[in-house]
Amino acid sequence: MTDQSRAEGDIDLLADVPLADRPQHIAIIMDGNGRWAQSRDLPRIEGHRQGVSTVRMISETAAELQIEAITLYCLSSENWKRPQEEVDFLMHLLEQYLIEERRTIMDQGLRLKVIGRRDRLPPRVLEEIDRTLEMSAGNPGTQLVLAIDYGGRGEIARAARQLACEAAAGSLNPESIDEAMIAERLYTKDLPEVDLMIRTGGDLRVSNFLLWQISYSELWITELCWPEFSRDDFLAAIREFSLRQRRFGGLDINE
Ligand code: IPE
Ligand code: IPE
Ligand code: MG
Repeated sequence: MTDQSRAEGDIDLLADVPLADRPQHIAIIMDGNGRWAQSRDLPRIEGHRQGVSTVRMISETAAELQIEAITLYCLSSENWKRPQEEVDFLMHLLEQYLIEERRTIMDQGLRLKVIGRRDRLPPRVLEEIDRTLEMSAGNPGTQLVLAIDYGGRGEIARAARQLACEAAAGSLNPESIDEAMIAERLYTKDLPEVDLMIRTGGDLRVSNFLLWQISYSELWITELCWPEFSRDDFLAAIREFSLRQRRFGGLDINE
């Protein structure tokens, strides 16, 4: 695709989809790295390496479109089951990404947030996370949320544990626990509702991602693997989102 045709496509999209109709928060299951590599006779880790370019493109596009938050599933709490070599490579890639992308994150005004468990991450990765968190904390743009060692069930269990501790300490009446109090204790408490969830790689499942948060998200699944997911594909997902009828259990306004 030439720059010219890309620019025309973008103008179309921006004209079609006013800010108010765009998703405020997009969550992405970035899947299919291994399959992308294996279908090209490459080792799986090459798929992860290539996937970083897609992350860069997505965060850049989200910032341009003034999307409020974008949450990327980088490592699930179940991914530790993979061979040590692959896990080590993923940690290395994460560290490299944080070092190399810091400038771009700052240039694009992105504000980093990380959700998931910290206690199993290597100190070097934590150090780079904290450095980028601190540096980008005052940025005004899109929140770039990385889900690392994240699992939805673990997150809900953690919230339940916190509530139980507060009840045991007498600072909260267990009878008063409602949905808002649970949501307040999730990693995502300061983020808007997830409007759109995208999964690449074609699998029709949620794989322990944002279980609480996606109750009324629109789903958009593509067979394309993450390393080949393009800016146009991302724009197409947002365009389709803007045309969906969301009812949240009610009826269409026109009915
Ligand atoms: C997603 O790609 C990246 C991570 C889970 C870290 P996969 O590595 O799961 O790729 P496939 O699904 O095996 O092709
Ligand atoms: C989901 O992909 C996790 C990430 C993209 C980080 P998986 O490849 O781990 O999911 P399953 O195992 O196919 O459900
Ligand atoms: Mg996978």
